[in-house]
Amino acid sequence: MDAVHADHGSSLQGAQAIWSTKMGQELKKKGAISVALFLIIFVISALIATSWVDMSIFPGASSQKALITSAESHNSTQKNHGYSLNCSADHNTTQTCPKTYPTRHEPDYSSSSSEACPEYFRWIYQDLEPWRKSNGISKDLVESGKSVADIRIVVVNGRVYMEKYRGVFQTRDVFTVWGILQLLRLYPGKLPDLDLMFGCGDRPVIRKKDYRGVNAGKAPPMFHYCGDDSSLDLIFPDWSFWGWPEISIKPWESLKKELEESNHKTKWVEREPYAYWKGNAGVSPTRQDLMKCNITDNQDWNARLYTLDWNHEFRNRFKHTNLANQCLHRYKIYVEGVAWSVSEKYILACDSMTLLLNSHYYDFFTRSLLPTVHYWPISQNDKCQSVKFAVDWGNTHPEKAQEIGKEGSKFIEEELKMEYVYDYMFHLLNEYAKHLKYKPTVPPGAVEVCSETMACNAKGLDREFMIESMVKSPSNKRPCTMPPPIKDSDLRDFQERKANLTEKVKMWEASGNFSGFQF
Ligand SMILES: *[C@@H]1O[C@H](CO)[C@@H](O)[C@H](O)[C@H]1NC(C)=O
Ligand SMILES: *[C@@H]1O[C@H](CO)[C@@H](O)[C@H](O)[C@H]1NC(C)=O
Ligand SMILES: *[C@@H]1O[C@H](CO)[C@@H](O)[C@H](O)[C@H]1NC(C)=O
Ligand SMILES: *[C@@H]1O[C@H](CO)[C@@H](O)[C@H](O)[C@H]1NC(C)=O
Ligand SMILES: *[C@@H]1O[C@H](CO)[C@@H](O)[C@H](O)[C@H]1NC(C)=O
Ligand SMILES: *[C@@H]1O[C@H](CO)[C@@H](O)[C@H](O)[C@H]1NC(C)=O
Repeated sequence: MDAVHADHGSSLQGAQAIWSTKMGQELKKKGAISVALFLIIFVISALIATSWVDMSIFPGASSQKALITSAESHNSTQKNHGYSLNCSADHNTTQTCPKTYPTRHEPDYSSSSSEACPEYFRWIYQDLEPWRKSNGISKDLVESGKSVADIRIVVVNGRVYMEKYRGVFQTRDVFTVWGILQLLRLYPGKLPDLDLMFGCGDRPVIRKKDYRGVNAGKAPPMFHYCGDDSSLDLIFPDWSFWGWPEISIKPWESLKKELEESNHKTKWVEREPYAYWKGNAGVSPTRQDLMKCNITDNQDWNARLYTLDWNHEFRNRFKHTNLANQCLHRYKIYVEGVAWSVSEKYILACDSMTLLLNSHYYDFFTRSLLPTVHYWPISQNDKCQSVKFAVDWGNTHPEKAQEIGKEGSKFIEEELKMEYVYDYMFHLLNEYAKHLKYKPTVPPGAVEVCSETMACNAKGLDREFMIESMVKSPSNKRPCTMPPPIKDSDLRDFQERKANLTEKVKMWEASGNFSGFQF
């Protein structure tokens, strides 16, 4: 807990106080929680905005004035083997980027053979399929996405430019752009010129059904954090990998380590033999429905469910929502909010068997997870019964339940290392660029961004998380090697296998008979 809550410095406290007051007013005004998606291991859930105002502490990289007029200056030059963050006067006041970033890095790769990327990288081809079929991406096509995009990111000769079209919830855009900047530091000179439209909301924005018939081939490519079967958004890792300062969720690299350590604290058999969930239940009917499965005087579905009091948490800066101390139950429930929830990785990382509900939306890595292998599927219609069955089964088959829990955690530990998150971005952007039919240029409204313009004048946790997640030196390894594209037949097989496994559990559950189930 304390590690997650290091001293944030007074400037953040001030900012956060203002922010939570605003938030409180907003909530009061709306009379309902319209903000949601948010999660944590002890607390976890997801806070998403269905409608929102820009309440960010740090208004965004394109709001250069806000950065320049910030009261406090940071006169530090942080040198970290190779890369520095040059916050000397030149860069903090004029908001210019140093001219001196390395534009190439060619270490001797001969000693290191390039490793294969995880299987889930194959979804990259799948996501780009519509533009492969329609013979590429023109500038007009990209710009036709302007009306739904929140930001545009352009990379020309290794330098990054950003145009912000509208307000974005909290600092999602800031930490998304930060992530791209770090990718360029990791692989200098290895990314092609790019022109990306990005949607930073909760739900996917490009609907398949709008691009059939006469509109076939006219879908604008849109980067976004999640997708579903009826959308065409290109799935990109969400901001939480670099940190979510508003709710004190640290950058993934260090949080992942803490989670791994906390996993060793309480052995599976010593954990509470129940299914645990804590989060913001107000954001979706499914979550509200799930709350009916909580223990009462008359009924025990083996679920222990807790709602999160947001105002209270903001006041306490999420002190009681520490993720790394939360692997205390044998089963943990994952349930979507407005769309995907960033909590999935934290829940899966726990070694507890994940009970997965309502996985309608996917993010970049979750499509490769399999029921009864990485998690236990919970049926949508009969949630309470289904949770009870899963827990009863697990408690009577602890070895098998632990195995599923371990498999889920292993996936997160091994396949969702930060280096793979960067490699996924790297390959997605490279594959995307292959479809571009024009040479990207800097659009008139865009401003250059770099680690300096973003971090030098940032305050509190924003700054802390940026410094922490900053890439300190270029990689001496090649990015992992992409697996071949998924054959249509393999894709069908995979989906069938997944559906079969889910169906099997459902039938088995209906029979109410534990024995005789073969995986
Ligand atoms: C930038 O840093 C210099 C010191 O190097 C300081 O005098 C100045 O006030 C800073 N500017 C801002 C806007 O923080
Ligand atoms: C900023 O840092 C430089 C180098 O450490 C130092 O020479 C300079 O005096 C500092 N400026 C301020 C305003 O603190
Ligand atoms: C920081 O930037 C200033 C202005 O561009 C430059 O003069 C200085 O040498 C840089 N410092 C470092 C350590 O790179
Ligand atoms: C679920 O039950 C527990 C124990 O009675 C209680 O503490 C908790 O607040 C309940 N959760 C919800 C969402 O009502
Ligand atoms: C799914 O189940 C059907 C019917 O039981 C079976 O024929 C098929 O081979 C299964 N598919 C996979 C991929 O396991
Ligand atoms: C449960 O399944 C097993 C194995 O298929 C079978 O032997 C047993 O009779 C079943 N029990 C009941 C009560 O149906």
